[in-house]
Amino acid sequence: MAFFTHHICRGLSSSAVRHVVIKHVTIIGGGQMGAGIAQVAASTGHAVTLVDTNEDILKKAVKGIEGNLKRVVKKKFADKPEAGEEFLQKAMQNVSISTDAGSVVQGTDLVVEAIVENLKVKQDLFGGLDKVAPAHTIFASNTSSLSITDIASSTNRLDRFGGLHFFNPVPVMRLVEVIATSSTSQETFDSLLNFSKMLGKTSVSCKDTPGFIVNRLLLPYILDAVRMYERGDGSKEDIDIAMKLGCGYPMGPFELSDYVGLDTMKFIMDGWSAANPDNPMFAQSEVLNKLVAEGKFGKKTGEGFYKYK
Ligand code: CAA
Repeated sequence: MAFFTHHICRGLSSSAVRHVVIKHVTIIGGGQMGAGIAQVAASTGHAVTLVDTNEDILKKAVKGIEGNLKRVVKKKFADKPEAGEEFLQKAMQNVSISTDAGSVVQGTDLVVEAIVENLKVKQDLFGGLDKVAPAHTIFASNTSSLSITDIASSTNRLDRFGGLHFFNPVPVMRLVEVIATSSTSQETFDSLLNFSKMLGKTSVSCKDTPGFIVNRLLLPYILDAVRMYERGDGSKEDIDIAMKLGCGYPMGPFELSDYVGLDTMKFIMDGWSAANPDNPMFAQSEVLNKLVAEGKFGKKTGEGFYKYK
């Protein structure tokens, strides 16, 4: 398969940049994040295989990608419908799906994992893929809160392992956090930076610390808003209005929580509070725990802090 070729490029800057040219990307996990990453990679000319164990999830993801791309085309190509149709066709042709990660990675340059936030599950996945992926293939996790070093430890490619953290909704949010562990090679890091650039994203880098930059600041802010609400200092509606109109945030903390998913937020906070039991910043929230226990995860389940039709 053509994707086995290992390309090394030298950039034009004075400090010679070597990076693997990413032609084929394997994205593991057909949820919101995986589908969003697949959409952006496909629409920027990359061949993408979206992998999930559940075929129905994959079909839903592809339908979602097509719907979102149609939205983009309608706007971007308003005056050129034919060019819009061509863009859509090309992008969709770049997307394939599979339930067999092991065979897909044999022809891939980059694996981006966006599955459940569970260290053991991620380690098992990467440990298995490491045995079958070509030597040049770079592995990256889109984890929001786990240590990249811990995830990578199940593989023998510590130098070709990093973090690529995207934000929801991936096609709209312009940032990618690129994480290098102490073992990530410069070539791998440059490859991840270059890939982010090819996706049209702005990247920032951060050490392999819990929550990287954004979630380390965002989650405590959201949890503080929940605590204000628990104390009765303000209604959730007023807190949301305050942060939108007072700070210019596109969503208030409760709207954003429902958007990100309360299950995801709880998972992140549980991990941090277990690691820092005496830090009040990561203390448990009764309201959050109750909503999650009731299966009210936010927009995706139709109810979280708010109800959705
Ligand atoms: N694909 C392509 N385009 C999309 C899209 C998608 N999936 N979703 C939205 N859009 C586009 C729309 O077409 C629209 O474009 P125009 O303005 O050019 O018409 C634009 O995005 C805005 O969308 P909407 O009009 O539907 O809705 P909105 O104006 O209410 O914006 C929002 C929605 C972009 C989500 C905005 O509310 C927002 O930015 N919210 C904050 C999101 C945020 O903070 N995300 C980070 C969460 S933290 C995280 O993800 C990290 C983690 O690990 C937990």
